[in-house]
Amino acid sequence: MRDVSFGQFQNETYFLGLGGTRPALPVTAAGLEARARDTLAPEVFAYIAGGAGTERTMANNIAAFDEHWLVPRMWTGSSAPDGRDLSVTVLGTALPAPVLTAPIGVLELVHPDAERAVARAVAPLGVGSVLSTAASTTIEDYAATIAEAGGAPWWFQLYWPADDEVARSLVERAEKAGAAAIIVTADTPGMGWRPRDLELAHLPFLQAKGVANYFSDPVFRGRLQAPPEESEQARQMAVLTWVGMFGNHTLRPESISTLREWTTLPIAVKGILHPDDARAVVDAGANGVIVSNHGGRQVDGAIASLQALGGIVSAVGDRADVLLDSGIRCGSDILATRDLGAKAVLYGRPWVYGLGLAGADGVTHALRSLLADLDITAGMAGISRFTEA
Ligand SMILES: Cc1cc2nc3c(=O)[nH]c(=O)nc-3n(C[C@H](O)[C@H](O)[C@H](O)COP(=O)(O)O)c2cc1C
Repeated sequence: MRDVSFGQFQNETYFLGLGGTRPALPVTAAGLEARARDTLAPEVFAYIAGGAGTERTMANNIAAFDEHWLVPRMWTGSSAPDGRDLSVTVLGTALPAPVLTAPIGVLELVHPDAERAVARAVAPLGVGSVLSTAASTTIEDYAATIAEAGGAPWWFQLYWPADDEVARSLVERAEKAGAAAIIVTADTPGMGWRPRDLELAHLPFLQAKGVANYFSDPVFRGRLQAPPEESEQARQMAVLTWVGMFGNHTLRPESISTLREWTTLPIAVKGILHPDDARAVVDAGANGVIVSNHGGRQVDGAIASLQALGGIVSAVGDRADVLLDSGIRCGSDILATRDLGAKAVLYGRPWVYGLGLAGADGVTHALRSLLADLDITAGMAGISRFTEA
């Protein structure tokens, strides 16, 4: 158990310095987004905030929570902050709360400290995180920064390149660096149709952003005529090599058994929305399924993650951990996913806005706001243990 409850943030705000201390940033996800819209460069804000097509799936991810309401219980003994326990064990990883930061690539767009800032924010809180393949910081650098900041469990998200030897190398690097699970993203065989980015003709990877894990990879480098650092032309050739292997159309549920040969770590598949797909990947050996539509960035018109959750829990919840990603914006959202059988959630865009606004402090602020809201709302709703006995 942690020394201080996550809800302590509320006391600090009201009581610190007796007259209270106003937070430097908004405490709501909507407030962080609005501040980021006013502050970040237009193409940067568009890249984070934007979704596929008409963005109706993105909107539906949030609206779906209006279809699921909590029925709070009273006098359960949950209202005392020191009596609450939000801890979970998911994919074999023990976490102080059912929240991990979602894998979000290209963080150098929003802040020069990128994933290092995330590492410095999650470690003191003990919060779990998922490092993207498309990170701006290498796997090894992220692992070292988390360790320096006190350590916290982290998972590695794999965009499985159309080159199995590069894929294997990335997975082996992650396992060696201390990742506790491999999350393979299934919903991105290519880039979705994203009007906001199209109108600004902005795809950061083409400027060699978000490619640190590839450019530092010995097998990827073996595919190049010249190291990317050698010249501008060599860098462009390396980007084109990346373009050639980003999309992988050969993956099938059975690919999980190949991945199983490369790693001893638990494996989860992210981006599943159909119960049959969940069954197929679990049959092939996945230990977990992350119900997700990639924040509405891939298939416009797709079902909201929350709407897909119950069916997937019914299909595989007895033999795999089911997590929910896409649309988490506040504490009660997490309690809704718990009602429907999710073990934990991934938290996405709001902390990225925090990063853009204030670096590591902004990520800390966004996470503490969410966790305090979860902690306090759970307590008021009569939930003293997140994991049901
Ligand atoms: C800017 C941005 C970059 C992302 N990069 C990745 C990535 O590299 N790998 C991945 O699996 N998902 C990626 N995602 C999807 C997130 O992991 C997560 O599914 C999504 O943010 C959830 O939606 P929400 O933030 O609206 O809750 C990205 C999302 C955004 C907004």
